[in-house]
Amino acid sequence: MYRMGQMELDEVSKVVMARKMFRVGDPKAGHLQEAVRFEKEWARKIGVKHALLLSGGGTAGLMAGLAGMGIGPGDEVIVPGYTFMASAAAVLMVGAIPVIAEINETMTLDPDDVEKKIGPHTKAIIPVHICGIPSDMARIMAVARKHKVKVIEDCCQADGGSFRGKRLGSWGDAGAYSFNDFKIMSAGEGGALVTDDNAIIERAGIYSDSGTAFRPYVKNIKAPIFLGFQFRATEIMGAVLRMQLKRLEGMLADLRRIRARFVRELGGKPGISFAPSNDPRGDCGVVVAFKFDSEAKARAFATARGVAGWLPIDSGKHVYSNWEPILEHRIGHHPAMNPYLMPQNKKLRTNYTKTMCPRTLEILRRTVYVSLHTDWKESQIRARIAACRKAGECL
Ligand SMILES: Cc1ncc(COP(=O)(O)O)c(C=O)c1O
Repeated sequence: MYRMGQMELDEVSKVVMARKMFRVGDPKAGHLQEAVRFEKEWARKIGVKHALLLSGGGTAGLMAGLAGMGIGPGDEVIVPGYTFMASAAAVLMVGAIPVIAEINETMTLDPDDVEKKIGPHTKAIIPVHICGIPSDMARIMAVARKHKVKVIEDCCQADGGSFRGKRLGSWGDAGAYSFNDFKIMSAGEGGALVTDDNAIIERAGIYSDSGTAFRPYVKNIKAPIFLGFQFRATEIMGAVLRMQLKRLEGMLADLRRIRARFVRELGGKPGISFAPSNDPRGDCGVVVAFKFDSEAKARAFATARGVAGWLPIDSGKHVYSNWEPILEHRIGHHPAMNPYLMPQNKKLRTNYTKTMCPRTLEILRRTVYVSLHTDWKESQIRARIAACRKAGECL
């Protein structure tokens, strides 16, 4: 997905030659501040005050955000039934309980179902911008504000996307990103948290660096220090991602141009309809989502010659009914650290079934994605659009 090359190599070689790979260091002693510089540049790009780069991926970003909000045992967090299992796993890792909600035809969290599922213990909502498709952040924020719950956006598949001209991750109280090998920007692994909230970023910083108590900047931290994890990013990660950031707008522009061509050239053609979009301009253009009125038609379209489509129902751990460790309450290395067994969580909604979000499953069964690629040549784009047109005509 991502583009990578000489720019990343050059920046990494500076870090290697400086022999300063730990993120904390003195610029006067030749430390390059790559992680800190990326954080400043990423915060500016997203349009928020703070960013924190993490080695533990988007999962660590979500965990640090939830921990920053003070969420833990006794709390429920609403997540969509269609997302990578990590969105729900992060909730469990801070000791809270995920409540699984439906998606709607846009493939993203259904604000109506969220409102129905908010209960007395709900503390946060995690809308997921799956496959770079923006969730309806205006409606989700309205529901969240009405019920006084926090929002942490899972932007792990949507680095750089936006909703109504405002970047994904800047709508909620916090946003989390992934830079693993399957994402729009990558350092192989890695993630980030963003927020405007000073208290969230301070606590998230403490949570993700077990050595906070010994850092030179500890005197500037207002929050009480507690012992956290070790999710510190390396300078190499910072160096790679600073260069990836320089490529981001070009990649998004190319993906969006290809997606717009599919929509323009196939719109209204026999057998073709698209998933409604909350914001086609802000969509990252990672996929084109086609909709059908039956699974049989979806499968026929996906497997037609030259289409190379895929059904999200087949995407394994992105569908809640396959989240076995969660459905079966198998969490943590020790029973006392399993949120499902914690006394504080006894009254929470911990009973899941594989059919609890029927609409989500039904939508995933009759949707087909065609994955788009930044570096497709004109002939490849034309051939793929022609194959989709023909497949639609044959339905
Ligand atoms: C929607 C979503 N959330 C969270 C994550 C977790 O990110 P990471 O693998 O970087 O921890 C991913 C990663 O694939 C994801 O796709």
